[in-house]
Amino acid sequence: MEFFIDTADTEAIRALCSFLPVDGVTTNPTIITKSGKAPEQVFAELCEVLTEDQKIIAQVIATDYDGILAEAEKIAAIRGGKNIVVKIPVTRAGLRAIPAVKAKGISVLATGIYSPDQAFWAAKAGADYLAPYVNRMCNYGDGVGQVVELVHTLAQYGMEAKVCAASFKNVDQVHRLLAAGVPAVTVAPDVIAAMIDHPGTALAVEEFTSNWEKAYGRTTL
Ligand code: G3P
Repeated sequence: MEFFIDTADTEAIRALCSFLPVDGVTTNPTIITKSGKAPEQVFAELCEVLTEDQKIIAQVIATDYDGILAEAEKIAAIRGGKNIVVKIPVTRAGLRAIPAVKAKGISVLATGIYSPDQAFWAAKAGADYLAPYVNRMCNYGDGVGQVVELVHTLAQYGMEAKVCAASFKNVDQVHRLLAAGVPAVTVAPDVIAAMIDHPGTALAVEEFTSNWEKAYGRTTL
């Protein structure tokens, strides 16, 4: 499975990658604007902070077919095409553009997905990844359940597109999709931190150290 960080905060990426085997980074236009940096600077920093084996997944801004194609080529050129994936929203123009972008040898992640039915069409159009917005889908119903169902639908038809579940607001949403075997997730740094930092673990470690020190007068082996 692949685990991506959903952020353009390069310091947060550097910190998480220093101890976690992360598979890359996803951004979207809003995430990039939140960085307070020019997009060119963000992409340059992502190329610097990530290894060539980690994917950079970036989104087109254009909403028309020709514009999406042109921007997809621009994004793919960021790193000479290696481990770059272009995010295309599943609008009518986006669905039309997906096979054309794929035909240029560019990997595609279909994004802005609010229903398994949109995801199905993006898979049929040839997208490599499908990004359902889990938490936003939860506003309309059982977002987690619908994404689990999507994973099963793709498997039933032998469709190659991978679900890359996105838009998580809590650890439970991530946990339930990992337990269901979702092939990829992209998660913001604060939710990743909440997956890792359990207060019980910190207390257990403090107790081990304290008991060791009381018995042996030192805090090392
Ligand atoms: O990757 C897509 C995702 O970033 C959307 O997340 O938090 O805006 O719902 P959010």
